[in-house]
Amino acid sequence: MEKNIVVIEGDGIGPEVTRQSVKVLNAVAQAGGHEFHFSYHLMGACAIDKTGDPLPDATIAAALNSDAILFGAIGHPKYDSDPTAKVRPEQGLLKLRKSLQLFANIRPVTTYPALQHLSPLKAKMLEDVDFVIFRELTGGIYFGKKEVNPEGTQASDDCIYTRDEIERIAHVAFKHAQQRRKKLTLVDKANVLETSRLWRKVVQDIARQYSDVKVDFLFVDNAAMQIILNPKQFDVILTENMFGDILSDEASVISGSLGLLPSASIGKSSALFEPIHGSYPQAAGKDIANPLGSILSAAMLLDHFGLHAEAGRIREAALWTLQNGFVTKDIDPINFYFTSTIGELISDYVSGKTPGDIHKENIALRKSTII
Ligand code: IPM
Ligand code: MG
Repeated sequence: MEKNIVVIEGDGIGPEVTRQSVKVLNAVAQAGGHEFHFSYHLMGACAIDKTGDPLPDATIAAALNSDAILFGAIGHPKYDSDPTAKVRPEQGLLKLRKSLQLFANIRPVTTYPALQHLSPLKAKMLEDVDFVIFRELTGGIYFGKKEVNPEGTQASDDCIYTRDEIERIAHVAFKHAQQRRKKLTLVDKANVLETSRLWRKVVQDIARQYSDVKVDFLFVDNAAMQIILNPKQFDVILTENMFGDILSDEASVISGSLGLLPSASIGKSSALFEPIHGSYPQAAGKDIANPLGSILSAAMLLDHFGLHAEAGRIREAALWTLQNGFVTKDIDPINFYFTSTIGELISDYVSGKTPGDIHKENIALRKSTII
């Protein structure tokens, strides 16, 4: 198979984690006789520095023409601490999501027995935790009209949803639930918000077409509590843009590290794959960030291409690194391995080089991993 992949490394740790995914995808291509063509484009703070624009037109055009987009992270502290900044890196990502109509953001939450000790939850609560958040990504308060009065003393953000916007993601989420444990939970705030009442009505209507899926409804405050109290009750969570943003960060701590979680954003044309973590500027350039969120996003990209066996092989490799203590600093602050080493180990694994031949002492010395 031949595919064009646009790579947007972005800011902070974005470049170093994304490079590991490219390494792994190259190994997959070589092993399976595929051709993946990578082209690199700017978005975020690095794009503002070079072009003045967080999302140059060339990036949008390349993304629209690609088969998939692999994205790292964006953000820079100089913008976070300046609420008056006129141009912000995040605008780039929001505009890209809108331009590509990436309306469904899919964030799976899985737990790994090898990392149970890192989770703030008790081990017995972690067994069988396996759910997916379907977050609406191109509507709601993120994209409504934003206003500040001339005195700067009053501000507003409109939250708008249409039936069509809710329907299209609801169908994707219901179909996904049919492939899983057939349970869908709509998270909203229908006791307060008109938009939430529309979500509830539309989802109730659509549910009739998916009679094999059990549907329930939770208010977002209760959902935030249930995710921590009893996460195994969830299968597919469907929710609007901002609730999904908040709940997915909350859910990510269940598995032990924010650095592990991948995501896919799908829409009308090309799909985008990115770890859910941010740009983590404190770690940038140090080769210590966890590349698994990005590498597992690359696995989701392969699933999107229909290369399910290859995607499975990457997941197996990631699990193998965790089980053998090949982990980054977020997971083991004392005996940790470098970002690039984890990337190499996983690409070696998918290339079929036997893990039994790996000598840990050489890895620590940053020599070849396969002896
Ligand atoms: C995410 C991020 C983004 C969001 C930011 C960077 C705009 O937090 O992808 O979850 O809020 O959607
Ligand atoms: Mg977020």
